[in-house]
Amino acid sequence: MTATTTDFQAWSHQQLQRVEATLQRVLPAPDLAPRRLHQAMRYAVLEGGKRVRPLLAFAAGELADADPERVEIAGAAVELIHAYSLVHDDLPCMDDDVLRRGKPTCHVEYDEPTALLVGDALQSLAFQLVGEYRLADELKTQLEMVKLLAAAAGSRGMAGGQAIDLESVGKSLTVPELEFMHIHKTGALIRASALLGAHCGNGLGAREIGQLDHFAKLIGLAFQVVDDVLDSESSTATLGKTAGKDAKDGKPTYVSAIGVSRARELARELRQNALDALAGFGARALRLRQLADFIVLRKF
Ligand code: IPE
Ligand code: IPE
Ligand code: MG
Ligand code: MG
Ligand code: MG
Repeated sequence: MTATTTDFQAWSHQQLQRVEATLQRVLPAPDLAPRRLHQAMRYAVLEGGKRVRPLLAFAAGELADADPERVEIAGAAVELIHAYSLVHDDLPCMDDDVLRRGKPTCHVEYDEPTALLVGDALQSLAFQLVGEYRLADELKTQLEMVKLLAAAAGSRGMAGGQAIDLESVGKSLTVPELEFMHIHKTGALIRASALLGAHCGNGLGAREIGQLDHFAKLIGLAFQVVDDVLDSESSTATLGKTAGKDAKDGKPTYVSAIGVSRARELARELRQNALDALAGFGARALRLRQLADFIVLRKF
């Protein structure tokens, strides 16, 4: 293990503690009515998950000299939307999955109507946070953050990408079509994580925000390419979700389109292009570079 890896582990460990504590705090207490819904929301969000999106928010926040107390709220908001997207993604009407983060999926542990409402309520809670806490010096910037998160989650972002995913079952997509789907269903929230983190501070100019956004777009696409590879190559035990599901369900993926070794190679190329987009930041972008490595080299 190199010194830099150890350093990244220490950094991410510290940020992850912040993330968990924030999520614990902002989620409604389990004994608050309606208890079953609140318990199911906590079940879907807490204990598990790599928390890549909040980590990206922290890394971008450091680049922009942001107050971590702001970034933890911005990161939690994106993570709540992500957790909602997973709960709905696993429903029988979508991917029909029974395992998520090593546990029964929300609708299996509770029931389908509860899982539907968990998604609704997590999304609302995310926007409540971005409305309730002061996240930027300028209110104009904070309003931008609300709009950014809404666009990333909506029909021109994650939800739109999910719609394309569902209508593509049984079809074979071209690489540009796959890229469009992945950039939306997964890339949009990854991009929002980095941008929200950066907007919590004042350290970046418009040009630098553009460079960060370009990095996040590339790494967001790489993230889903790796997800496709892991679905086909890894095991259920390692992933904590059912492996081999994409092929079984007839989902078009980078693996079905270009094969697993070319998909791996593409993820590495995207990582290199993403790192190139950070060149202007020098040492300040260390955490973002380490996260890019984690995203592409991860085993789960
Ligand atoms: C899984 O996301 C779904 C995708 C968008 C690819 P993650 O791999 O980030 O899932 P968790 O949060 O770590 O469980
Ligand atoms: C999900 O993509 C993307 C979301 C917006 C949740 P997948 O369907 O590939 O995610 P997993 O593999 O179930 O985590
Ligand atoms: Mg899906
Ligand atoms: Mg799925
Ligand atoms: Mg997948």
